[in-house]
Amino acid sequence: MTLAPAENLDPRTLLAWHVAMGADEAIQDDPLDRFTAPEPPAASTVKAQAAPQQMRPQSPSLKPVAARPVQPAEGAGQAAAESVAAACNSLEDLESALKAFDGGLLKRSAKNTVFADGVAGAPLMIVGEAPGADEDIQGKPFVGVSGQLLDRMLAAAGFSRTENTYISNVVPWRPLGNRTPDQAVITMCLPFIRRHIELAKPKVVLMLGGVSAKALLNSEDGITRLRGRWRNIEIGGQTFAALPAYHPAYLLRQPHLKGFAWRDLLSVREKLSQS
Ligand code: URA
Repeated sequence: MTLAPAENLDPRTLLAWHVAMGADEAIQDDPLDRFTAPEPPAASTVKAQAAPQQMRPQSPSLKPVAARPVQPAEGAGQAAAESVAAACNSLEDLESALKAFDGGLLKRSAKNTVFADGVAGAPLMIVGEAPGADEDIQGKPFVGVSGQLLDRMLAAAGFSRTENTYISNVVPWRPLGNRTPDQAVITMCLPFIRRHIELAKPKVVLMLGGVSAKALLNSEDGITRLRGRWRNIEIGGQTFAALPAYHPAYLLRQPHLKGFAWRDLLSVREKLSQS
């Protein structure tokens, strides 16, 4: 097979490659046309210009600039999250605390802290994995294509985020390139979502996808094994009935599994009718 030299590649192919690698967002509002931008000076010219300056004695009036403290990439960590979350006594407190929390590189690369949507205090609380690009932009969970499928499924079973459903995620910041969040990030965010459930006091928690179910149930099992079986989550002396189910993004890729999702939603209805 003969490969075309890289410079002959169709720009659309290169763009598709960048998007696939996770570089799927512009970092400036206005595009920069690098074909018409002036050529940067050659490295040798820059060196030649810089050299005499380096020799110049420093002016006594110039104050040294203090180095900025390096923020750890991994963020403040689980112990800090635990104590910050425990000190919050309302959902509003928790949201503010999460917005002020050092969530590391992940938070710094996100546009928004995606806290929740729907009716706080609703009987059904849904917990997904982490925001995607649309959620990051709008600051609300499940508003992209998988969210639209979720809304349709909920409506068919008599639920809606405007009436009786509250929605959040394990991780409130969008992982770059829509990757699965790292275990360290999940561990750090866990105290927040547990406190979130404790304060929202739903009758039933529906965990969408393996990340959510494994984190909240502290399980190593995959979602195929976990889904459809009721479990309890114990938080601060309260017990929450919790059901793992397939994530709508997975159902978009595996539509033949939608029957299981329907069964799970009916099971949630049944559980709520008993409570
Ligand atoms: N997937 C999730 O798990 N959560 C969202 O908010 C969006 C997509």
